[in-house]
Amino acid sequence: MNPPPDDRPVLTVQPLGWCVRVAPGQSLVEAARAAGVRLRSSCRNGTCRACLCRLVEGEVRWRIDWPGLTAEERAEGWILPCVALPVGAVTVEAVVQPGP
Ligand code: FES
Repeated sequence: MNPPPDDRPVLTVQPLGWCVRVAPGQSLVEAARAAGVRLRSSCRNGTCRACLCRLVEGEVRWRIDWPGLTAEERAEGWILPCVALPVGAVTVEAVVQPGP
């Protein structure tokens, strides 16, 4: 018997090409961490900008009303993955931290 199809969105982290599934309500940082991939982050509430990275493909919505990005940054594709929830498959270019 085949397992049920997994319709959770896929997050791809470039340049390493790592792919992880994002559970409902998980931010990109949380989903990556749950899969053992540590994206650079600090506050995890959308204010410090330590996690700032570029959205290469796909679309995100925000967990908070006012993520700390300028309109210009948003237009250029910058996101804060600690408060970004995927709308379908997404690809980001992000710094991955070593360690557990
Ligand atoms: S970790 Fe602080 S804004 Fe994302």
